[in-house]
Amino acid sequence: MRAPAKINLTLHITGKRDDGYHLLDSLVVFADVGDRLEYTVGGPLSLSITGPEAGGLEAGPSNLVLRAASLAEADGGRFKLEKNLPVSSGIGGGSADAAAAVRVLLAMGASGGAQAAAVDPAARFLPLGADVPVCLDCRPVRMQGIGEILTPMPDLPGLHAVLINPRVALATPVVFRELQRAENAPMPATLPDFEGRRHLVSWLRDQRNDLQEAALSLVPAIGDVLAALEGAQGCLLARMSGSGATCFGLFDHAASAKTAAARISDRHPHWWVTPTQLGDMQALSQPRISRS
Ligand code: C5P
Repeated sequence: MRAPAKINLTLHITGKRDDGYHLLDSLVVFADVGDRLEYTVGGPLSLSITGPEAGGLEAGPSNLVLRAASLAEADGGRFKLEKNLPVSSGIGGGSADAAAAVRVLLAMGASGGAQAAAVDPAARFLPLGADVPVCLDCRPVRMQGIGEILTPMPDLPGLHAVLINPRVALATPVVFRELQRAENAPMPATLPDFEGRRHLVSWLRDQRNDLQEAALSLVPAIGDVLAALEGAQGCLLARMSGSGATCFGLFDHAASAKTAAARISDRHPHWWVTPTQLGDMQALSQPRISRS
């Protein structure tokens, strides 16, 4: 099954709880790029990791896939993860993998008992990470609370984008610690009915990612990424996703996104650069089950 990347089109930090977690107001969509997770029934619980971004990633019990399997009370089975998304990059790679593990286990009938099954999955799997609930469905949502209050945005127009990571891993807690002000304005209480892509992009220009400045102070290369996107022909808006360092550029057409990605990649061969579609990736994220 696919584990699509999560993109925060906006990320307003509106407060801080006593336990240190921050309150968010974020418009989240999914990309048609992501990791792949395979699960084979039988044997003890195990995980192996392959793929271009596998380097240095722990396959032990601390890996979010295995932690998700434990929380879902999986009865063994082998997970194979193809890691395509850069690690610690603000596009929810680990959360997407954990959510994919939950999806396949629930589809295979794991429930953790009637009591656990009765609990809303968003609340049940929140302890794995604040981004896990949103990654369970892979649909456009407004995300609030610390990540557990999800309001579907089914009519959000799809977007053409380029994702770029300057190949600097950035730990989320470090960025939050650098944040100068936690009490910022939320998005408007009611979001507009977007009449197409251009309308959405022009509205997004008035919104923010409140972690961008903090991340920029830690990783100046984020500024180079944003400048490269802003300088690309056809780029309508460039912004950082999540706690960074991955940034997205929005384009009017798939072709201009593809051309921009190729040009930027030529100039910065060490960056992770990928053209993509953003929007509803629920269909793409469903487990395909084969029995042999
Ligand atoms: O929940 P997750 O493991 O993704 O969070 C990692 C860290 O990011 C937390 O320990 C916290 O420091 C910070 N965080 C936060 N507020 C959120 C989400 C994450 O302060 N809503």
